[in-house]
Amino acid sequence: MGRAILSHFLILSNSAPQLSSSSISKLNGFASRSVRIRQNSKYSNGFRCYCDVSHSQQTSPEDSRTSVTVKKRIVSGVQPTGSVHLGNYLGAIKNWIALQNTYETLFFIVDLHAITLPYDTKELSKATRDTAAIYLACGIDASKASVFVQSHVHAHVELMWLLSSATPIGWLNRMIQFKEKSRKAGDENVGVALLTYPVLMASDILLYQSDFVPVGEDQKQHLELTRELAERVNYLYGGRKWKKLGGRGGAIFKVPEPLIPPAGARVMSLTDGLSKMSKSAPSDQSRINLLDPKDVIANKIKRCKTDSFPALEFDNPERPECNNLLSVYQLVSGKTKEDVAKECQGLNWGSFKPLLTDALIEHLHPIQVRYEEIHSDSAYLDSVLEEGARKASEIADATLKNVYQAMGFLRR
Ligand code: TYM
Repeated sequence: MGRAILSHFLILSNSAPQLSSSSISKLNGFASRSVRIRQNSKYSNGFRCYCDVSHSQQTSPEDSRTSVTVKKRIVSGVQPTGSVHLGNYLGAIKNWIALQNTYETLFFIVDLHAITLPYDTKELSKATRDTAAIYLACGIDASKASVFVQSHVHAHVELMWLLSSATPIGWLNRMIQFKEKSRKAGDENVGVALLTYPVLMASDILLYQSDFVPVGEDQKQHLELTRELAERVNYLYGGRKWKKLGGRGGAIFKVPEPLIPPAGARVMSLTDGLSKMSKSAPSDQSRINLLDPKDVIANKIKRCKTDSFPALEFDNPERPECNNLLSVYQLVSGKTKEDVAKECQGLNWGSFKPLLTDALIEHLHPIQVRYEEIHSDSAYLDSVLEEGARKASEIADATLKNVYQAMGFLRR
């Protein structure tokens, strides 16, 4: 099961993870082709063990010394800004569904990230609830995954401050999303939070000692920074230094891997095949929102940008729109790339667009029906978020306690 699921993703980091010996054998079991093992790294001090994995260990009293089954942990989140669109769904949420059956999963609504650019205070809490309802409507099962609101777990902000002290400002200045967004917002006027946002994202991930983080391609650079920061903090404060302060020693943070899907990692705008589909694009015509009614979807596909080449094909760099629309069709219809290539090679835009429209409507309609049900049951939604935050806090507080100790703070 694990092999089947992981093989659907590319593990894109250039550097390899540090793994404990038990993790090495388990990960080798299902992802050995894509993961290289490194036992020593720039910041590792030769650590071979991660810190507390007790929350993800399943042991019985008899076997606790011999065979420990470690359930790998996965975290991810979406910002509650604007409507959740097809890019968020195909690049991230849809992939979370299969992972929740095999891994310990935590999915949060990253409301603290939503205030990094000017926002509407009247809208934030509504958008947060709406996004939680979307997660569940898409198939996140609250009996398997912890679903919670980032700001409900105080450790995220607290860890961010601690990590900020170890983050070189040059690392943040290099972030592509910061450069793009600050340029758009008028450099001098942007809030400091836009610059320090990747440190908060690193906290979101490192707090949970996450093994994997399923995201779209645009988050790859943030994941690289998270990995570097984990290694740096492990080097600065972990190992023997931590032990001397009365701690367990070893690595403070697990170094996580991004999981980027081979298709859907970068869904492009409907009006420009060279730009990413985005919540912040001014025209709503550029994206399909998960809650768009049928007629709106039909209209957007009817008017979306195409080209004048004959027939339809994948992977022609001169035809970004064509590649994007075929990929979307592939993912929402559940067909293979080869089947779609064969099915569509003889079609023109006039015959393909209705096919794509029907596939999108058929895929999104059940999500929309479930969304209405879940959204109207506010007591249920509240209980899911409360329970999710409770479980998440337990894990997060344990990590935070370790970090305070390793950084030399006076214990309460
Ligand atoms: P956000 O809210 O911008 O996007 C949420 C997820 O959707 C993916 N995504 C896309 N995938 C494919 N094609 C697109 N056009 C597209 N647009 C967005 C994103 O890659 C992401 O996976 N910083 C993050 C949220 C975050 C987070 C985290 C994620 C905060 N903390 C910890 C993982 C773990 C963000 O702004 O995503």
